Amino acid sequence: MSWQLAAGGWQSGFELCGVPLRGPVLNGSGTFDAIAARRAFGDALLEQFPFDAFVSKTITVEPRDGNPPPRLWETPAGMINSIGLPNRGLEGFLAHDLPQLVELPVPLVVSVMGFSVDELARLLSGVGERAEVAMMELNFSCPNVETGLVMGAEPEETEAAVDRLRPLTEKPLIVKLTPNAVDPAGVAEAAERAGADAVSLVNTLKGMAFDPRTGRAWLGGVTGGLSGPAIRAVALEQVHAVAERVRIPVIGMGGIASGHDAREFLDAGAACVAVGTENFRDPAAGRRVAFELAELQALPVRD
Ligand code: SIN
Repeated sequence: MSWQLAAGGWQSGFELCGVPLRGPVLNGSGTFDAIAARRAFGDALLEQFPFDAFVSKTITVEPRDGNPPPRLWETPAGMINSIGLPNRGLEGFLAHDLPQLVELPVPLVVSVMGFSVDELARLLSGVGERAEVAMMELNFSCPNVETGLVMGAEPEETEAAVDRLRPLTEKPLIVKLTPNAVDPAGVAEAAERAGADAVSLVNTLKGMAFDPRTGRAWLGGVTGGLSGPAIRAVALEQVHAVAERVRIPVIGMGGIASGHDAREFLDAGAACVAVGTENFRDPAAGRRVAFELAELQALPVRD
């Protein structure tokens, strides 16, 4: 595994929600542990950081252990995860993770999830006031944790939640959408109406696998979220539908493993892209995708 890949060039002046970025390639939340990668690769990680902005693993108010194992299942062209948002909680994040994440050479996006709008409000106020944080992402879309809320699936609930949360921080707010909704574009419109600065999609599709020896559910959490190239066509359709309905930037993701895949998401209307499952196979995938994408963008437009 090597960090020797050259950074893909991009036009100067690129930005997302007013935050200058060196290019359009982010990571999907929870798919790249930058703190562990720094331990493994040292300062080489900072010199050749794979993404143009870094999105943290989703945090919650209270610490969480996550779901019981097994947490992963490999599928044709993808995987199902049932991780369950293990994290140190708000206080642990601020004390332990944030000081390490601010050393990354790119803007930091912090992803948060609450079991109520009050919890989200605490997270937004607690993290959003920190100068080191460039943007906030509201994870309304985790399939592995039962929130008791339907705000990611229903336009009305999404609008009510964003409406209440929007005034609590001056930081740009990204709303992460679930593909497991009847009308993701309707949810995106509702988020925009309530003041979201961008939407990101897709999170994982609900999935399940059975242990061939026992016939019982394989995952400790029983169901999980399917990601990887297996969901790319679904993600492209949803990104296209959302981009047609909103004026705010769309961050597109779902099985991106190459510059060609990223280009398809831009063609579908995304302003930026995020690499997720591919990071588990190749931790330098973000840089490779950026490099390949820059090469493709430099090609003349086809007739
Ligand atoms: C998880 O930790 O369960 C995955 C996070 C997500 O899908 O939002």
